[in-house]
Amino acid sequence: MNKDRKLIIAGNWKMNKTVAEALDLVNGLKRELLSVKEVDLVVCPPFTALSEVSKAILDSNLRLGAQDMSEHPPGAYTGEIAAVMLKEFSVRYVIVGHSERRQYHAETDAVIAAKAAAAHGAALKPIVCIGETLKERETGRTELVLETQVKGSLAGLSKSQMEETVLAYEPVWAIGTGRTATADQAQAAHAFIRRVLAGVFDDTVARRVRIQYGGSVKPANARELMSLPDVDGALVGGASLEIRSFTDIVKNSI
Ligand code: PGA
Repeated sequence: MNKDRKLIIAGNWKMNKTVAEALDLVNGLKRELLSVKEVDLVVCPPFTALSEVSKAILDSNLRLGAQDMSEHPPGAYTGEIAAVMLKEFSVRYVIVGHSERRQYHAETDAVIAAKAAAAHGAALKPIVCIGETLKERETGRTELVLETQVKGSLAGLSKSQMEETVLAYEPVWAIGTGRTATADQAQAAHAFIRRVLAGVFDDTVARRVRIQYGGSVKPANARELMSLPDVDGALVGGASLEIRSFTDIVKNSI
C-alpha cells in the first residue's frame, strides 16, 4: 500500500452487543489483529460496553471510539453523553453525523459541526459522516449534497483540527444494503470531497485528511476499495460484528 496517509479501519457496532458479547468480539479481534501495525484500528461499541471494552484493549493495538456524543458540556440533557464522559474510558474517536443519526434523530449539519467542535475541545478525534441518498444520486445531486455536507458539518474547524478529523463517505444507499459503491463511484466521490476540502481549508489539509469509505464493506470488496488513491480506510457496520469478517477486511486491506 503506497499512500502517505495511514489507513484507518473502524468497526461501527451500532446498537448491537451486550457487554459479554462485546468482550467476546473484542478479545477475538485483539488476538487476530495483534500483529497489524500498518492500519489504525478502531472499535466503536455502544456506550454501555465502553467501560469493559476499554479495559480489554488497554494493552493492544485497538483504539476505542464512541458512536455519538452530545455537542453540549455536562448539564441537563437527559439521555445524552458528554465528551468528558467518553474521555473517562480512554475513548479516542467519536463518530458524528452518521446517516442513521441524521435520518432518525434529525441531526443537521449545524448540530454535527457543533459535535465535531466539541469533540476536538475534549481532544477526541471526530469521524464525521457524509453521504448522499439514492434519490439524490439518481437525480444528479451527489456532488451538491457532498459539498453542502462537507462545508456545513465541518464549519468552524481550524486547519489543525481538520487534519485530526476523519471523514467517512457513506452513500446512504450502500449502508446495510449489500449494495457497495463501485470502485469508480467511490474514488470519484472521495476525490471530489478532497477538492472541496482544498477549497475550504487548503491543499495541505486536503492531502492529509483521511477519508474512509463506508457502506457494505466486506472481506470480498475491501482490497479493491482500500487500494483506491483517495480511499484511506473503512467504516464498517454489519461486517464488524464478527471476528472473522472484520479481521479479513483488515488483512485484505494491507
Ligand atoms: P454497513 O454499515 O457496513 O453495515 O453497510 C456501515 C455504516 O453504517 O457505518
